[in-house]
Amino acid sequence: MRVLLTGGSGFIGSHIAILLLERGFDVVILDSFVNSSPNVIIRIKKYLDNKDLNYKLETINGDIRDKKILDKIFIDCIKENKPINTVIHLAGLKSVYESLSNPLHYWDVNVFGTLNLLLTMKEYECYSLVFSSSATIYGLSDSVPMAEDHTISPINPYGKTKVAIENMFYDLYNSNLNSWKICSLRYFNPVGAHPSGLIGEDPIGIPNNLFPFITQVAIGTQKLLNIYGDDWGTRDGTGIRDYIHIIDLAEGHLASIDYFNSTESCLEFINLGSGKGYSVFQIIRQFELSTGRKIPFSIQDRRDGDVAKSFADISKAKKLLGWTPKRSLEQICLDGWNWQIKNPHGYG
Ligand code: WQD
Repeated sequence: MRVLLTGGSGFIGSHIAILLLERGFDVVILDSFVNSSPNVIIRIKKYLDNKDLNYKLETINGDIRDKKILDKIFIDCIKENKPINTVIHLAGLKSVYESLSNPLHYWDVNVFGTLNLLLTMKEYECYSLVFSSSATIYGLSDSVPMAEDHTISPINPYGKTKVAIENMFYDLYNSNLNSWKICSLRYFNPVGAHPSGLIGEDPIGIPNNLFPFITQVAIGTQKLLNIYGDDWGTRDGTGIRDYIHIIDLAEGHLASIDYFNSTESCLEFINLGSGKGYSVFQIIRQFELSTGRKIPFSIQDRRDGDVAKSFADISKAKKLLGWTPKRSLEQICLDGWNWQIKNPHGYG
């Protein structure tokens, strides 16, 4: 079976790529490398070669907004008599902060890019899609844990593009009930790294997100951690989030593909999280305990766009996909630190 993995050289995509290739799927990665390094592909191959695995991985440098590139991928695979059966679509922009100052760019890449992909899939009769959505669409959480029927009220352009895309799926699916299989996976906070230490999270510039910032403080790239508010209505005043190990998240994508084999057609919106909420102070404490590294911090004002609490009700993923997260917060810290200590400058 051949999978087109858009955004496959990113933090999440690279971990999904390894699992797909280990499972014996042929993988075509399409990535523009605007937010990731081509070295990721070298690391994926190194990991698989070290395991003496036979695999078929093709990488195309391109933008999902370029219809010609998408057409060529689908046509070439048909000519090889190995058409694309399923698309896992991760390519897109994902910084809440950046989307606030550059909304049209987010609407162009995320929404127009996905529209371009859906038109191409339809043209070449590829109707199976796993999509990278986000818990950001829930916005201010009026209740936690959040299930898929939680109010959807995104508070930033990034989240609004994800809602627009999910609405596209809804209209597409209802226009032809018999053909499309779509799982829109709503990620909470993906963190950690592959246990091999060969691939991991390597943000460009100063990390926006907590976990990679902590590992950079631990390795000395950053001096101290700024904690955005200790006056939230939580157990210790710091923000609570749902941190899910990146391998658990990647496994949720393969579980979605397996689910497609058991249904004629579907449109499902599914939370992927650990189902647990941890505060910033709890993350710091666990990281220090697991790694022996001290994380100095300074309390700052709240960050625009933040919410007090966000963590997932994952009962639907368990019931529908038979998927549950297996890795603990301690494993997240150990794997994340293992990646950072082996790659002090990321992919270089
Ligand atoms: C977590 C907690 C911060 C950094 C982000 C994206 C979202 C989604 C998941 C894609 C919060 C606090 C953070 C720091 C801090 N990604 N924090 N100091 O904001 O929950 O969501 O990742 O879909 O789009 O926005 O994650 O890691 O930025 O913040 O105190 O330097 O850590 O206030 O409470 P967030 P985060």
